[in-house]
Amino acid sequence: MREFLIAGNWKMNGSNAANRELVSGIAAGVPAGSGFSLLVCPPYPYLAAVGSALEGSPVKLGAQNVSEHESGAFTGEVAPAMLKDMGCDYVIVGHSERRAMYGESSFQVAAKFQAAQAAGLTPIVCVGETLEEREDGSTESVVDFQLNAVFDAAGIGAFASAVVAYEPVWAIGTGKTATPEQAQEVHRHIRGRLAALDAGIAENVQILYGGSMKGENAAGLLAMPDIDGGLIGGASLKADDFLAIAAAAAQG
Ligand code: 13P
Repeated sequence: MREFLIAGNWKMNGSNAANRELVSGIAAGVPAGSGFSLLVCPPYPYLAAVGSALEGSPVKLGAQNVSEHESGAFTGEVAPAMLKDMGCDYVIVGHSERRAMYGESSFQVAAKFQAAQAAGLTPIVCVGETLEEREDGSTESVVDFQLNAVFDAAGIGAFASAVVAYEPVWAIGTGKTATPEQAQEVHRHIRGRLAALDAGIAENVQILYGGSMKGENAAGLLAMPDIDGGLIGGASLKADDFLAIAAAAAQG
């Protein structure tokens, strides 16, 4: 049985003071129950402080990006082993903002995915189509291309310890959420692609939805059979908003 994972992607937001308030609010309000876990992904400079603030709470720590290289002359980059060293369990790879604004290709994303796993991190690999791609009917082929790069590089076995996040680009930060049915259709497709390679792995992989997820729409999305949690941007920046989504997972 798959658990829900509710993950906050703080993106480039926060400050020491704001993070302290956010983390203490989240830690104090973790819903009772089982069958779900919570994760926050702050910007790099705050990993240590947020990690310490989370000690004693069940909320896990992750990062938003990682280098595909192990170490060396890569100015400004952060190695997977460094994230592990800072107490991260997870790292997001291939967020659409990285693909669109920093030119990350699906092949580079696949290399980051592998490097993260080699360091003992669980990668959360993001896939998703733009509005134009949805409108011209290529959602599935876009998602397939993005996933195939990871299958080719890492193999299906690697998905035994990885998470997939379906984030339709048109729903990110726009307030336009995919309907539960629209999201489910793509999630089912993704699980089907995984199942064609390994049915057992496909059954266990968590597939998160991301894109304007909030307290009001979380329960509907999480009720879908192939939606196993959320990757949350805006609504992860306020403890009450994030906890409302967590509460939907705890009830689901
Ligand atoms: P929003 O929840 O702000 O739409 O962001 C989603 C996202 O990009 C999470 O990675």
